[in-house]
Amino acid sequence: MIKKQDRRLRVGVLGCGPIAQFAHLQSCVKAGNADLYAICDAAPDLLARMGATYEPQKMYSDYEAMLADPELEAVIVATSDAYHVPMSIRALNAGKHVLCEKPIGTSVEEGEALAEAVRRSGKILQVGHMKRFDPALEAARDFVRDEIGEVLALKAWYCDSTHRYTNTDAVQPLPVTSKLAKKPAGNPKADLRQYFMLAHGSHLVDTARFLCGDIVAVRARLNEKFGACCWFVETEFASGALGHLDLTVAVRMDWHEGFQLYGENGSVIARTFNPWYFRASEVEIFHEKTATAHKPLGADGHFFRRQLEGLADTVLNGAPMRGANVEDGIASIRAMVAIARSVETGERVELASVSGAV
Ligand SMILES: NC(=O)c1ccc[n+]([C@@H]2O[C@H](COP(=O)([O-])OP(=O)(O)OC[C@H]3O[C@@H](n4cnc5c(N)ncnc54)[C@H](O)[C@@H]3O)[C@@H](O)[C@H]2O)c1
Repeated sequence: MIKKQDRRLRVGVLGCGPIAQFAHLQSCVKAGNADLYAICDAAPDLLARMGATYEPQKMYSDYEAMLADPELEAVIVATSDAYHVPMSIRALNAGKHVLCEKPIGTSVEEGEALAEAVRRSGKILQVGHMKRFDPALEAARDFVRDEIGEVLALKAWYCDSTHRYTNTDAVQPLPVTSKLAKKPAGNPKADLRQYFMLAHGSHLVDTARFLCGDIVAVRARLNEKFGACCWFVETEFASGALGHLDLTVAVRMDWHEGFQLYGENGSVIARTFNPWYFRASEVEIFHEKTATAHKPLGADGHFFRRQLEGLADTVLNGAPMRGANVEDGIASIRAMVAIARSVETGERVELASVSGAV
């Protein structure tokens, strides 16, 4: 049962495309401490359809008009990657808090410009790395932070599946599309390496950072065959932990995502599912002291709604931000750029030294 609190964050969703339909619109409706106050899309047909379904208080075809609404408190930027930074900056400049889809930007410079806008505005910006709100991954992170002692190594993998669209179509309503949708010029899939890294690599890198903290350097190799890309990334964490990240798009098998983490006082093994199942990861936490393992259920697998509730809790109650902040977003961009540079040069690349686009 959904219980709405008295004070709720009034949220406007920019973009009524697939990610809004799969995740954000419903998240606003279900959130205990937020409401779907407004929606905005340049495509009038899409706007009308989503307006009829979700019944926000306000509907806008013009983003500036939505931002000028004094009742609006926060914006979810649910558009293509190229618009993330400019649309987030406009929202911050208008005095709105922001939850922006991942990756936060496509270049280090863009990320830094956004960080500057966040500082200037004094508003909250959270990056939509929603896996941080997978309750079983949160339990794993808590164990790593509070009990595991030193971390020796992390092996993490994110392998998108050739069957993911079949799987997703089977469980999700088909998204409503519009020929009038506003899209950046050019085909975002023209450079598949870049597209896979931004779309999928951003999740892998953020999960690794969520568990093990800052990454200082990478050495990466890429193997491309039969239209599939496989990156193996040797990763150095600031903590001294060793990492091995595997990004493969697409594997000829079911969705394959998870990690193994070895620490001083235990270890963790995790299996993460296709996100559209809204199912928390299966996590096994082994405690060396008692030689026993426990598996958190994580019954509430709606990580998209939980990330919005996290943002609203920070804005409304001053709770510490549980999601990725703009610095985490920039660190993800740096890691992705470093991986791309390392593939080009074959060298170890320090994240602090990189600039430019993924
Ligand atoms: N968190 C996840 O796991 C996850 C999963 C899938 C996609 N995503 C992210 O979602 C984003 C893509 O979302 P999508 O597929 O829904 O995008 P899309 O481009 O299909 O839809 C975006 C909508 O926003 C509207 N729009 C864009 N700019 C606008 C403006 N200035 N004013 C009014 N309307 C505007 C467009 O008309 C369009 O309908 C990507 O950044 C992707 O990385 C995240």
